[in-house]
Amino acid sequence: MNNETATIFETAFENEIYQGLKDYPKHLSSKYFYDEKGDALFQDIMDMPEYYLTDAEYDIFTNQKEEIANLFSKSASRFDLVELGAGDGKKTKVLLHHFFGKGLQFQYLPIDISQNALDQLESSLKKEFPNMKVKTVQGTYFEALEEVTSTQENSKIILFLGSNIGNLLHPQAVTFLKNVRQLMHENDLFFVGFDQKKNPQAILDAYNDQTGITAAFNKNILARINSELGGNFDLEKFLHWEVYNPETGTAKSYLVSQEEQEVIIEKLALKIDFKPWETIHTEISQKYDDQSIHWLAEQAGLEIIGEFIDSKKQYKNYVFKKQ
Ligand code: TRP
Repeated sequence: MNNETATIFETAFENEIYQGLKDYPKHLSSKYFYDEKGDALFQDIMDMPEYYLTDAEYDIFTNQKEEIANLFSKSASRFDLVELGAGDGKKTKVLLHHFFGKGLQFQYLPIDISQNALDQLESSLKKEFPNMKVKTVQGTYFEALEEVTSTQENSKIILFLGSNIGNLLHPQAVTFLKNVRQLMHENDLFFVGFDQKKNPQAILDAYNDQTGITAAFNKNILARINSELGGNFDLEKFLHWEVYNPETGTAKSYLVSQEEQEVIIEKLALKIDFKPWETIHTEISQKYDDQSIHWLAEQAGLEIIGEFIDSKKQYKNYVFKKQ
């Protein structure tokens, strides 16, 4: 989505790592967590009891699939179900199963940045739904969505689940929603998950589990730099640190250098110095209330046509169409 960085290397990955580590304060984009190991670690996160988000959305899909199916089939008799950041598709399969059983006319178009995640998803879908039409698309959200909307003619229902929108700060989320809106036609729907503000401790626990899975996930970006770009990060020298501001609803993940150190990244011909306790910011996970969601929709020119909440009232799915 962010094409502003000057091209000095071959790939966006190389450019963004270079820029992010040269900046002050340092930052790295969370979209680079997801290689084969990162995909597996995120699946472990989604299975943790502390990571309530997955269970909550699963609860919504399981208990309200009929209402969701009715809303979708009312908007179009035949549609493309496009999912941004599909991952392992575990929750979506609840809906796919129900829609397929009801005989709804649709094809499923999962988009993900990780080809590995898409390959696994495709093979599991072939087994579970041998007759379903599936077309996987690899890419960043926006490039892939543009491709899908320009080449496929059916009405679209776009799914953006989990905490994906939460990885954007409000101004970026508005831009993102506006961009999606521009690619939507009159009857298309946009179905988005919004994690709700709640007891701050529950949020900290979800993003900083005792067993260290989240820490390993956050540090995987350093492991990737080591293996793909010839870096020599010592993962042990970094701490995973999570903060949550209950006023703004913003959770932030950091990697903190526990000592003064120098890191070399051969492929980028880069030497980076860390001062003791210097940070690398890696992820934002925004939490919402109704007011902030209504504000976002208004800013982006979207109309709210439905909402679903889980039984513990921790998480919501909103459905938007073009205003
Ligand atoms: N997009 C996920 C989320 O915000 C990713 C995630 C889960 C994450 N746990 C994390 C990112 C910890 C960084 C650190 O919920």
